[in-house]
Amino acid sequence: MSTGSSQTPNIAIAQDLEAAFALFVDASKALEEQQLALQSQISQLSQELVEVNGRLSSLLNALPAGVILVENQIVIDFNPAAIQLIPDLKKGSFWNIPKSWKSSTTVGEYHQKHGQTEQILQVHQIDSSVRSVIQIQDITASISSHAERERVNRLAAMGKMSAGIAHQLRTPLSTALLYASHLSDEKVGDDQKRLFADRLKKQLMNLEKLAGNMLLFLRQRPQQMTNSPLDDLIDEACQAIQAICDERQIGLNLSLQSSGSVVNVEKQSIVSALIAILENALQVTQSGQSIAVTTIALQGRVQIMIDDQGPGIAADMMDTLFEPFSTSRITGTGLGLSIARNAIDSHRGEILVSNREGGGARFTIILPSLIEL
Ligand SMILES: Nc1ncnc2c1ncn2[C@@H]1O[C@H](COP(=O)(O)OP(=O)(O)O)[C@@H](O)[C@H]1O
Ligand SMILES: [Mg+2]
Repeated sequence: MSTGSSQTPNIAIAQDLEAAFALFVDASKALEEQQLALQSQISQLSQELVEVNGRLSSLLNALPAGVILVENQIVIDFNPAAIQLIPDLKKGSFWNIPKSWKSSTTVGEYHQKHGQTEQILQVHQIDSSVRSVIQIQDITASISSHAERERVNRLAAMGKMSAGIAHQLRTPLSTALLYASHLSDEKVGDDQKRLFADRLKKQLMNLEKLAGNMLLFLRQRPQQMTNSPLDDLIDEACQAIQAICDERQIGLNLSLQSSGSVVNVEKQSIVSALIAILENALQVTQSGQSIAVTTIALQGRVQIMIDDQGPGIAADMMDTLFEPFSTSRITGTGLGLSIARNAIDSHRGEILVSNREGGGARFTIILPSLIEL
């Protein structure tokens, strides 16, 4: 047995072990510290998450609009405003628009009986994979204030209209009466009578057109709303003036940057509004010049711009342009733009006018649009 020779390696092993152990202790201390740091980070993050969640809940609770969170078509959460609108809403139930809500003519809008009154609700759904956020807004007040404003405007306009009607009717009527009196005059020959009869007919046709335009001006809300691609409306309006453009060598430049946009409109009234603006543009456009029609799709809206190269809107016409009987033309009725504005207003749109820096006028129409196809 050689105890002397085995002692040295034993000491060495013991020393190695001691060093390894010290390393292990250091490493586990470091690990422990790291874990502690990690844990405190986790608890800090959890705390923050709780706070954010709390803030989000108070925000949702304070929102006047109803908000419903849906996953795989199942209701997982909602705020108090949602319960106000849908009292029997329950977590875990299948999400559907309540049966008692009636679809309105505008997509995403519903009517529901609320006691004696009728509520108008607007529903927006934002989808991301299996989750959806459904936002429901009571827009009854904003719609009725819009309708009230329209009514007050119309009443004020009617006052001015009475004066305008008298003015507009007087000339063609007295001319027509003059022709009629010639017809019953025995001294007037047959050829002359035929001529007067023709002129009388023309005057009466003008009067009929004027009466038709006045009725259009007084018309209430649009009746038959349909979903129409915006491009179709532009196309139809442009076709109505194409022949005149060709004959007078006026260019019609279309730049339709909203292809796919769909609007919910009473088609004929919007097309007529566009034609009224295009006709005005034609009246100030010389041969060789052009009219530009541009469309742009914005968030939930479309914008149509009609630019001409005429002299622009006269300063004294700017403020009254859209009022009935406001005209600077001898043969004008001043009804074109007022009917156009009524039509656009009743679609909850907007019509604006400006003179362009480079000369000429710009009419801008903004209409609410549906989701792009
Ligand atoms: N593109 C335009 N450039 C210059 N003035 C315009 C233009 N469009 C309309 N106006 C002005 O607005 C007035 C009202 O137009 P409108 O309501 O269509 O009636 P009318 O064409 O019968 O005069 C016109 O008489 C004219 O003074
Ligand atoms: Mg006109």
